[in-house]
Amino acid sequence: HRALGEVWDDEMSSNMLGKRLRKVVQNYQAMNKYGVEFSGPGGVATRPKVSGSELLCQLKYKVEVATLTPDLEPFSSLPWAYQLPLQPITSDLGPYKSCAVVSSAGSLRYSGLGKEIDSHDAVLRFNAAPTVGYEKDVGSKTTIRLLNSQVMASDDHRFLSSSLYSTGVLVAWDPSPFSADLSQWYNKTDYPIFTQYQRYRRLHPLQPFYILHPSFEWQLWQRIQDNMAEPIQKNPPSSGLLGTVLMMSLCEVVHVYEFLPSQRKTELCHYYQRFYDAACTLGAYHPLLYEKNLVKRMNQGLDRDIYTHGRVTLPGFSTLNC
Ligand code: C5P
Repeated sequence: HRALGEVWDDEMSSNMLGKRLRKVVQNYQAMNKYGVEFSGPGGVATRPKVSGSELLCQLKYKVEVATLTPDLEPFSSLPWAYQLPLQPITSDLGPYKSCAVVSSAGSLRYSGLGKEIDSHDAVLRFNAAPTVGYEKDVGSKTTIRLLNSQVMASDDHRFLSSSLYSTGVLVAWDPSPFSADLSQWYNKTDYPIFTQYQRYRRLHPLQPFYILHPSFEWQLWQRIQDNMAEPIQKNPPSSGLLGTVLMMSLCEVVHVYEFLPSQRKTELCHYYQRFYDAACTLGAYHPLLYEKNLVKRMNQGLDRDIYTHGRVTLPGFSTLNC
């Protein structure tokens, strides 16, 4: 029979990329901006590949989904600590039954997935991804928006004034040095996440706004590297994987859309911009290729759903029997 078209192969490696992208990925694999202390895939190549359910349990028990609270040093001794939520996000939100994570991939265009996405109890979106004008393909509900510090700081995103960011719960993140404590990170953020956070909170004091604990990023990075046979980029996971794991801690089931590309696979970077670059889907700075290998292995849905809907189904941590 003619099988359905190809879906993501969970053994993707950087040598399957085109020449240009392979070079970029190799450069990031060699670079070590955050001082990651890890001596490559120590024997991973010979270690047996663990199953999807074992991977899920690793995420559940080895990755703590944490957010900053005002009791943590150095924030407890700073005058703006009161602006941080008192409780971590996992105590304030959920549990939701069914959740959608909407990658911003260009392949969402003409997908007609809007109704399906909106039918979930909670919907997570990323960075500057709009809904207005794209409802048919991406829906209109936004429960949580995960933002990187670059978007918060850049002038073109108008983070402080744009209505794009005023619906739903905001969650921000910024890469920290690999072994830094919170005080060291506070003095060495990639982008000015804390000044922007304080400004935004003054303008929108009632909108819930969390900041991810940087140890979450690096614990997740470690899970990816430990399960790959080659060294991955020594940079934090993409927002896509951070948001997916965040939702796995808040929801009974998580549907991720167009993280693993469907039949609509395209080099169009985002559904909302006319910019083309395969690196958006395959990764350059982020270890995105390897993130996708892991998600493919953990998927509990059918390959056909990936092909037709770009849809992956992951169980929430609360439903796992590890
Ligand atoms: O580009 P941005 O980080 O805002 O997109 C949100 C997430 O969606 C990315 O971090 C990545 O995980 C995923 N994505 C993707 N393929 C694309 C664009 C985004 O997998 N073409």
